[in-house]
Amino acid sequence: MNSKFGAQLPSIKTPPPGPHSLELASRLHAVESRNITWLSDDFPVFWDQALGSNVSDVDGNVYVDLTSAFGVAFAGHSHPDIGIAMEEQAKRLVHGMGDVHPSLAKVKLMEELGSLAPWQETRTVLASSGTEAIEIALKTAQLLTGKTGVIAFKGAYHGLTLGSLSITDRQAFRDPFVDRLSEATDFVPFPTSEDEASRLLTQIVRILSKRESSGVSVGAIVIEPIQGRGGVRIAPRGFLRGLSDLSKSAGVALIFDEIFTGLGRSGVMFESETEGVVPDLVCLGKALGGGLPLSACLGSRAAMEAWPETHGEAIHTSTFLGHPLSCTTALSFLGVLRSERLISKSVEKGQYLLASLRASLDSGRHIHEVRGRGLLVGIELRTEAGGPWKGQGARVARQALRQGLIVLPAGRHGEVVQLAPAATITEKQIDFAVTCLSDMLLRVSHS
Ligand SMILES: Cc1ncc(COP(=O)(O)O)c(C=O)c1O
Repeated sequence: MNSKFGAQLPSIKTPPPGPHSLELASRLHAVESRNITWLSDDFPVFWDQALGSNVSDVDGNVYVDLTSAFGVAFAGHSHPDIGIAMEEQAKRLVHGMGDVHPSLAKVKLMEELGSLAPWQETRTVLASSGTEAIEIALKTAQLLTGKTGVIAFKGAYHGLTLGSLSITDRQAFRDPFVDRLSEATDFVPFPTSEDEASRLLTQIVRILSKRESSGVSVGAIVIEPIQGRGGVRIAPRGFLRGLSDLSKSAGVALIFDEIFTGLGRSGVMFESETEGVVPDLVCLGKALGGGLPLSACLGSRAAMEAWPETHGEAIHTSTFLGHPLSCTTALSFLGVLRSERLISKSVEKGQYLLASLRASLDSGRHIHEVRGRGLLVGIELRTEAGGPWKGQGARVARQALRQGLIVLPAGRHGEVVQLAPAATITEKQIDFAVTCLSDMLLRVSHS
């Protein structure tokens, strides 16, 4: 018997994109800036409904979403408890005046985040998108240290507003705006082995002293403990600890961008836990809002007190700061995270997914590596010659769509297939996805 929508396997009635998606694509083309949605004969489909790990499109096709829609729907799409909380709050107070007349929901959410965070006393600034949380972290680090230089990592993705873009390592995103980006950023390689990691720590020390003597000292090191869009690259054991020790002794603020990894995605609440490291600042986003746009920059009280006390005019705020509806859905999401043991599920299902993929992709000569932590998994593809298979992640995503699977490409060269499903995905859905993706990837490998 077929399961209910949410826990269903794919059901493709019309080869995607079907006629309704194609019609919407042509209407979209006429109204949206051409830089935004990539439209072609075989991509995208227009979503109609989503529940759990299923998405249906406007042509009645049902997909298994292996992305949680950019990592947001960690509890599954349209989780019923979050929906109820949303409905009740929507009747009471949707929008408020976050930094003037705040709401109960904002206070409760920050209390809850404080109870999860690694510091004795936590202070938080809320925002709406991941990139904004990064902007807040960069400003905080500058106020705290009085230094404007930043060390970031090759392959990093921190967002696209100008401050975040200054520390995002994607040439295509940066090139048109390069004149407006801070020159005080040094990109260092993201280490993938313990040897590389120790060499890199020495290199960072050299950069710190070079910058110091040039008059633009480094005030922040920003790292995604696992690079998500960069291709699911995992910092080797010991590196975060080394970075933390180095930052402390150099008076540099250590910022963990946990916008993708945080709140259970990688199998822990915060990646810092894995090495018992306490960074100065942590950025959260994506899953935090339970489906609504919400992000946060959290820090120790000491770090956050670098900001001056407001006398009525906050020097960093925004219209939607502390949005009551988003804060309520975030609280509800955090409740579900606990009550449904989503972090343990992320570990268990992540191990199952990774082991199944590794077992079935073992013989693929185009498979460079299958890696992951929790429910953040990447399949790195290589060419016959052994180099990164440029753009193959996107080709696989288009092929997978026709089989009813939603996946995303990742990696500097688009050489990685990224999987970030909901923690509520069923074993049957995982089995189907593994069989289907393996068939697809091995067919290429063996052809
Ligand atoms: C690690 C990381 N940081 C920051 C961002 C930017 O978040 P947003 O797109 O919400 O601005 C992303 C988005 O993918 C991300 O993965």
